[in-house]
Amino acid sequence: MSERRAAITAVGTFVPQRVLTNADLEKVVDTSDQWIRTRTGIERRHVVEPGTPTSEIAAKAAEDALRRRGLAASEVDLIVVATVTPDMLFPATACLVQERIGASHAWGFDLSAACSGFLYALTTAAQFVKSGAHQRVLVIGADVMTAILDWQDRSTCVLFGDGAGAVLLEPRSDGTGLLDFAHEVDGSGACFLHMPAGGSLHPASHQTVDQRLHFIKQQGQHVYKYAVRKFAEITERVLLRNDLTGTDVDLFVAHQANIRIIEAAQHRMGLPESKVVKNIHEYGNTTAATIPLALASALDQKRLHPHDTVLLAAVGAGFTVGSVLLRWSGVPWD
Ligand SMILES: CC(C)(COP(=O)(O)OP(=O)(O)OC[C@H]1O[C@@H](n2cnc3c(N)ncnc32)[C@H](O)[C@@H]1OP(=O)(O)O)[C@@H](O)C(=O)NCCC(=O)NCCS
Repeated sequence: MSERRAAITAVGTFVPQRVLTNADLEKVVDTSDQWIRTRTGIERRHVVEPGTPTSEIAAKAAEDALRRRGLAASEVDLIVVATVTPDMLFPATACLVQERIGASHAWGFDLSAACSGFLYALTTAAQFVKSGAHQRVLVIGADVMTAILDWQDRSTCVLFGDGAGAVLLEPRSDGTGLLDFAHEVDGSGACFLHMPAGGSLHPASHQTVDQRLHFIKQQGQHVYKYAVRKFAEITERVLLRNDLTGTDVDLFVAHQANIRIIEAAQHRMGLPESKVVKNIHEYGNTTAATIPLALASALDQKRLHPHDTVLLAAVGAGFTVGSVLLRWSGVPWD
């Protein structure tokens, strides 16, 4: 028996049916399908019906994971929700998800780390499982990005979509589970990607609304360069200290923000196409949901097998940076 680790034992997703193509966006802002495809790799994104809250899609993803694992919500001990689009500032979306799915014995909280949110939530939740404090923890990455997109800003509104993904963590002592992680924050990057108003610094007022401060603001080129550099650094650090190289990685699952960022990391590690998950063309950047949605894409394509070495990585607003190394444990997938 090897040491007790937190392993992913189920994956669930929820993606809204409604699709917004690049051609649709050509009618909204001065952009083109060709610009969006070549600069980002995005072809379409899925979007909720206006008014749909994050807790609703998060709960659907959680229910999907529990159904696949054959567990009742009452068997969950803890719910961690990574999101930058909570239903409201408080209460936490985790509480609203707990109520929606009927997880009568669970506590929970939200975690705000933007595009790195799912990885931060995964490593946080894993500590409760590894320590023996909990047996079953739901980690959910969910965002309704369309709620905070400025449809007059072509530099951001073409990049994002809505979606939710959930994983269940349970203890395993068979060598599988979460092996290592590395996270960083760099608050000097806060101004390059943020939603300026709605918090204590700029509470909602007529002025903040008039100035369109309740929407995402991004200096794309700066974020891009930081992301390329940090993806390389963080993945290299995790691999090196585990005596691994790119050739040891069976699957690289990166946050899906821009195909060029993913490919820069792929080439740096010398990974062939078969070892990299890319689904940004279908979903765009769904912030906290991209990594669990990418795990689901890999499962659909039968590219994840028990005992595979899986490397996850993300960079997001904050700045936040993260990488997680897993030995895949196998999940029910039909
Ligand atoms: C946003 C991003 C795709 C922009 O690509 P870029 O190659 O850096 O493009 P730039 O911002 O330099 O803009 C280039 C030109 O395209 C224009 N442009 C911006 N958005 C456009 C759009 N949707 N359609 C057409 N033109 C657009 C700009 O106005 C600029 O025009 P100019 O040269 O006349 O000034 C890219 O910077 C990026 O992906 N950044 C990181 C995003 C990210 O990862 N965010 C989430 C954090 S995880």
